[in-house]
Amino acid sequence: MKFDLKNRMKPPFKWVGGKSRLLDQLVPHFPMEFDRLVEPFCGTASLSLALEPNASFWINDLNTEVFAVWVDIRNDWKKFRIKLICLQAEYNKCFDKEAFYKSIREYTIQTNVSGRFILLNKAGFNGLYRVNQKGGFNVPWGKREKVALVPDNLEQLSEHFQRAKITTLPAFEVVEEAKAGDFLYVDPPYHDTFSSYTKEGFSTDDHTKLALLCEEAVERGAKVAISNSNTEFIQNLYSTWTCHEVLRSGTISSKSEGRQPVRELLFTKGY
Ligand SMILES: C[S@@+](CC[C@H](N)C(=O)[O-])C[C@H]1O[C@@H](n2cnc3c(N)ncnc32)[C@H](O)[C@@H]1O
Repeated sequence: MKFDLKNRMKPPFKWVGGKSRLLDQLVPHFPMEFDRLVEPFCGTASLSLALEPNASFWINDLNTEVFAVWVDIRNDWKKFRIKLICLQAEYNKCFDKEAFYKSIREYTIQTNVSGRFILLNKAGFNGLYRVNQKGGFNVPWGKREKVALVPDNLEQLSEHFQRAKITTLPAFEVVEEAKAGDFLYVDPPYHDTFSSYTKEGFSTDDHTKLALLCEEAVERGAKVAISNSNTEFIQNLYSTWTCHEVLRSGTISSKSEGRQPVRELLFTKGY
């Protein structure tokens, strides 16, 4: 199984830490061949979307809304499309869009989880996702007059995900199951930066535990690549791994001097 960057598919939502734009830098450091791709922290599943057709892969994310999007696209993309068309029409024709956005944001009953997620992602401020300690989504309205919620590649995405295993487990459990022949792309919330994708967050102890489990996966014969921030703690944690530098264009400030590229790290082992 291989990557096919030329024909990669576009993810249906924006995501903090998404790797779509970094794939050209990352993929040259990935193994040429493997039996199965495993993404324990999949988010937009950007790597899986760059796999050649007929690949088998396992995507996992503890965020249950992200999980709902992938499952709905795989199981019934036409129904998902209709849900998005309805929400889009309601938002675009609505007079008080801020009130509508807030009503959807406060609506936490577990129906139309995937549609609600896409609306908040496209109509919220800068496509951000952030939850408080109770798991409540708390991103302000993005002041958009119109939103386009319906991706044009839903059928293609659905076909691609027919061969996928999709779960919403703590990533540790997924890494523990990795075996010889697997390629694991491990992309956790970065150390010392944003980690509010889930109410649990991701602590320093979690990073230490993850590093140990990844080491054990390599011992079982898996090929492993791990992305993280360029901090001293992370450099020490993966000091026995091969380290590569990746440059992400800065997005922190709208002022030009705040847009310096940010150095991130990629660690590889087992191949
Ligand atoms: C840096 S993002 C991954 C981005 C992804 N590679 C992409 O290209 O979109 C980290 C992801 O880990 C998920 N996550 C956070 N804690 C987790 C955990 N304990 N187990 C599994 N997933 C977790 C978040 O919901 C988020 O989607």
